[in-house]
Parts: sequence; C-alpha cells; structure tokens
Amino acid sequence: MVDVHSHILPALDDGSKNMEESLEMLRIACDEGIRTMIATPHNMPGKGCPDREKVEKRLSDLRTAAAAAGIDIEILLGTEYYYRSDILEEFEEGRVITMNDTRYVLIEFDPGVNRTYAKNAVREIMALDYRPVIAHVERYPALMERKAEAVKELRTMGALIQVNAGSVIGNIGFKVKQSVKYLLQNGLVDLIGSDAHSSRHRAPRMKECAKYLRKKYNEDYCEHLLNAAALYE
Ligand SMILES: [Fe+2]
Repeated sequence: MVDVHSHILPALDDGSKNMEESLEMLRIACDEGIRTMIATPHNMPGKGCPDREKVEKRLSDLRTAAAAAGIDIEILLGTEYYYRSDILEEFEEGRVITMNDTRYVLIEFDPGVNRTYAKNAVREIMALDYRPVIAHVERYPALMERKAEAVKELRTMGALIQVNAGSVIGNIGFKVKQSVKYLLQNGLVDLIGSDAHSSRHRAPRMKECAKYLRKKYNEDYCEHLLNAAALYE
C-alpha cells in the first residue's frame, strides 16, 4: 500500500518528535503492509513552514537512518499546505513542494471552511497548473453536507479527494464513518492516507482500513485507492 499523507519526518511539525519516533513509525507502517509513504509535513503558520531545502534534508536523513536500521520502505517528498491566498506566490514561482514531484499538491483547510472558499482555492491552484488533493475531506462539515454536494463539485473542477484510513473504519465516530461510506459508495474518494502523527495513537495504520474496503468493494477499486493510483494517471 501507499500512504499518501503522513507527518513522518522528525521535528518539523506536530508529527514525529525525533528520529527515533520516525523509525518506530516506519516499523509500524511496514507491519501494516505499507511499502511507500509520502512525507507531508505541515506548511501552516503556527505549525511550521519548512522550505524545500529543509524538507529534503530531513527526508534524506530519514532515508539514511531507515536503511541503517534495516527498515525497507520507500519515503517520498511532499508537504501538506494549509490553504491561504499568500501561498499562491510560492506556487507561481515553482517553490511549491508537490506530492512526489507530480502536479498534485496536498491542501488542507480550516475545519470551518465553506464551499465557496474551497472552490475558490481549487480554482486558483488549477489556474497555476497544479492539481489540488483535498486532505481528509471528511473533516469539513460544509463540504460533506447535502450528500457531499461540494465534494462532487470540487472533483468535477479537477481536485482529488483524500480521506483518512482511520475515518473509514470509524476511529473518529460513527457519523464520520457513515459520511465517508457515502463517498466511497459513490466513487468520490481518490486517495487514502493515514495522516499519522506519532508512533502511538495517531500511528501509520492502514491494514484495518484495507481489510474493511476489501470486504465491501471490488478489488480494482480497493487497489486503486490503496496504491495511490490517482496520482499517476
Ligand atoms: Fe495532516
């Protein structure tokens, strides 16, 4: 499996605290059947806004440490951008860190985001020739209401939709599980990620989610979701 959303890099944000914890998270990921992780540290005022050089350095340090520890997992470059209009300048100047150097950029919003704001963000990003991946869309009530009307619109505009593995299996409540189920049943999910922040209660777990998906949906759909195929289409 490919985990497209993780705070695996040490000491960059509110994710992994240090190298030791990052290695522990990688060990858990391997046990879960994850073979590739996209490292997506926050780029958000207050949580950290590391530039490309810094993210690349931490990524290379982690790859070296993982190899030395005998952990066989691929770790790719990424970032999770908290959307605000002033990051568009970074996009314009090509300083944006995309998901494994594709045209896709992981974007998160404030939980209170409304539909107009989200649509505007998608439009602005697409205009600069990047494609937004909306991180954990289930966290935004205004996008999920009325049968996820806004999610449908954002996808039609060209955005991809990511949900967290934990939300699929009910870790954040029955209501969210039900709304994610609606998205899955209607083909409105493109990517799944763990959004792991630690080696303890927000660890990089996808195995149970995969088991649940394989029980309910056909093999092609599951493989598409669990292998991040949408990023390479
Ligand atoms: Fe995240």
